[in-house]
Amino acid sequence: MKIVLAPMDGLTDAYAREILTAIGGYDLCVTEFLRITNTLFPTRVFYRRFPELNINPDSGQKISHTKSGTPIFLQLLGSDNSAMADNAAKAVSLGAEGIDLNFGCPAKTVNRRDGGASLLKFPDRINQLVYSVRQAVPANIPVTAKMRLGFDDQSLAHDNAQAIQDAGADWLTIHARTKKDGYRPPAYWDALAPLADQLTIPIIANGEVWSVDDYYRCKERSHCSSIMLGRGAMVTPDLALQIKNALDDKSTPQLSWPEMCQMLDKLYQLMIHNSALNERYVAPRLKLWVKWLMANFSQAEAIFPELKRIKDPHQAIELIRLSQDL
Ligand SMILES: Cc1cc2nc3c(=O)[nH]c(=O)nc-3n(C[C@H](O)[C@H](O)[C@H](O)COP(=O)(O)O)c2cc1C
Repeated sequence: MKIVLAPMDGLTDAYAREILTAIGGYDLCVTEFLRITNTLFPTRVFYRRFPELNINPDSGQKISHTKSGTPIFLQLLGSDNSAMADNAAKAVSLGAEGIDLNFGCPAKTVNRRDGGASLLKFPDRINQLVYSVRQAVPANIPVTAKMRLGFDDQSLAHDNAQAIQDAGADWLTIHARTKKDGYRPPAYWDALAPLADQLTIPIIANGEVWSVDDYYRCKERSHCSSIMLGRGAMVTPDLALQIKNALDDKSTPQLSWPEMCQMLDKLYQLMIHNSALNERYVAPRLKLWVKWLMANFSQAEAIFPELKRIKDPHQAIELIRLSQDL
């Protein structure tokens, strides 16, 4: 059973990956998508999306892990077979431990340019893309895919999943909604069950898992024991740990607001000590996470109206630090 931290553009960057995997429970992270057009990106583009890229110079072993040792796959989004293959091969040569392919992004700008979920209308093209990338990277490097149940409806869900399996993918994550469903609840966990039953590669369920109880319900209805956590990881940063502990019959002490403040302080320190990072990035990041935490912590709700007006990162973290006693 694996718990994967979801790729979420603008949320699960290297800082969030480091914070969340340090709390524990995650077996794997997938980067936010890197959009491929028809060119081979220069090296710096890969490091910008995936600063953890690393190779042991002596052994040549790929060590693109978070600081706590969780491996990270690079997610690519695009529709040009050879450009996807070339960029995947380059990422692997730089140290990526696996390549994940995005067939789920609902964004209009992406879909208009023939990428993400729009490809779900064409199982053959999905098959060719996965196959091209599979052929371009060494056999010991996993190539995986993430899809939705369909574009407008679920009618091609099986064909797409089968196309991905036939092309040689190692596993498949399915966000249990169509593109048309957007992010509206519910997630259709039951629709994953026939796919999990019929396919031979592992299926990882994704969508609307916010609690340990959701995990158990999703597992029962989807027939998938592995899970990818997205927004639930932002709202409940120890959700993966809670699920792993529950499976081991262990309880997880509830995270307190002072612990959340320490987590945000760590996020602040990581960002502020990165000289390559524009300082303007820091306060919005802190605000965004506090906003997610409002679902669970009244203290987050109490400080947010003031926090959202602050632009200076030092003032933002000071307000968060002071709230520890609330
Ligand atoms: C802000 C945001 C950005 C996202 N970016 C990506 C992305 O880069 N690649 C991807 O495959 N999915 C992306 N997703 C979808 C998530 O990975 C996940 O499939 C979705 O949020 C459903 O899971 P959840 O209910 O656990 O959040 C994004 C979702 C959100 C909310």
